[in-house]
Amino acid sequence: MKLMRAIQIKSPGADFELVQKEIPEPKNNEVLIKVEACGICHGDAIAKEGHMPGIKYPIIPGHEVVGIVDKTGSDVTAWKTGQRVGVGWHGGHCFQCHACRNGNFGACEKSLTTGLHLDGGYAEYMIARHEVIVSIPEELTSVNAAPILCAGRTTFGALKDSNARGGDLVAIHGLGGLGHLAVQYAVKMGFKTVVLSRGKEKEKLSYRLGAHFYIDTDASDGAKELTKLGGARVILCTAPNIKEVSALVPGLGRNGQAIIITGASDMLQVPASLMLGGQRSVRGYVSGNIEEAINFSILTKITPMIEVFPLEKAAEAFEKMMTAKVHFRAVLKMGH
Ligand SMILES: NC(=O)c1ccc[n+]([C@@H]2O[C@H](COP(=O)([O-])OP(=O)(O)OC[C@H]3O[C@@H](n4cnc5c(N)ncnc54)[C@H](OP(=O)(O)O)[C@@H]3O)[C@@H](O)[C@H]2O)c1
Ligand SMILES: [Zn+2]
Repeated sequence: MKLMRAIQIKSPGADFELVQKEIPEPKNNEVLIKVEACGICHGDAIAKEGHMPGIKYPIIPGHEVVGIVDKTGSDVTAWKTGQRVGVGWHGGHCFQCHACRNGNFGACEKSLTTGLHLDGGYAEYMIARHEVIVSIPEELTSVNAAPILCAGRTTFGALKDSNARGGDLVAIHGLGGLGHLAVQYAVKMGFKTVVLSRGKEKEKLSYRLGAHFYIDTDASDGAKELTKLGGARVILCTAPNIKEVSALVPGLGRNGQAIIITGASDMLQVPASLMLGGQRSVRGYVSGNIEEAINFSILTKITPMIEVFPLEKAAEAFEKMMTAKVHFRAVLKMGH
């Protein structure tokens, strides 16, 4: 029996534990991946704390996974041993429900999530279903590619699908794993880019990432500052602080959109007259196209800023992320 090391969560709220497990065998439509790197996303807190029903425990978290195809199931034709591949949040679809029949696999009624319903990438090996795997181009190292598989694809997709156009004022709220990639994408898409963060500490780093303006929300009223700059066409809300998001919405200009990508569950409060007056809106955004985000990152030479940790330091890395101290994505690198 061949063993692997993995970080698992036994039950909602339990600590991460380093365990030895049998290396799983891929079934007919599955691929065994020898994991090289896995990013730590704030979304992993859902598995850690049990914030959603239906999570399979014990669970191995991690949905920013890059590795090498080690073995393929009998029905897998698209992937070959030795190829470098990635897996994100979406872990599989049924091909049979109404959404799947119409090619809208992301909306599959029986959709599975990597690191919630299926074991994820905080491990030396993981199983993935063939339909969710993407190829990782050689321009990207594994540790740099991993954050694009969730943080990158979400922020890139949200900005690309927004109503902002070149020269428009785009605000990024929260400078963490998602936020720091969002800033770089926004700049390269030609937006006048402003970072909203707490305190002075991240000001210099924001300018290093290319931001044109920085607003310290601890020292000033973010909405008023955005209004002084002409009002935002888009506020991309990545910080899990909905009270702050509510307070920022008046900083939208005419036809402005607040795009919620943070997973916080608190109530959002916005003055109705403000929505009506300038035809402002608040919308949500989930996922985004991984391959498009990878291609844009390579084209524009955007790489994530990462802190690399060995697998056994996953708890420390997760804690650093949860307290907003990572600059800016923690990535686990497997030793093998
Ligand atoms: N929609 C999607 O598809 C999708 C995909 C991935 C993640 N998410 C969600 O997006 C959010 C951000 O994820 P992430 O991985 O970027 O997280 P992260 O690395 O922890 O960054 C979040 C940032 O928000 C700011 N923040 C403000 N108030 C905070 C608070 N009370 N607690 C913690 N941070 C606070 C911090 O930046 P400052 O210090 O600059 O304020 C922090 O760095 C999470 O809610 C995550 O679940 C959604
Ligand atoms: Zn994520």
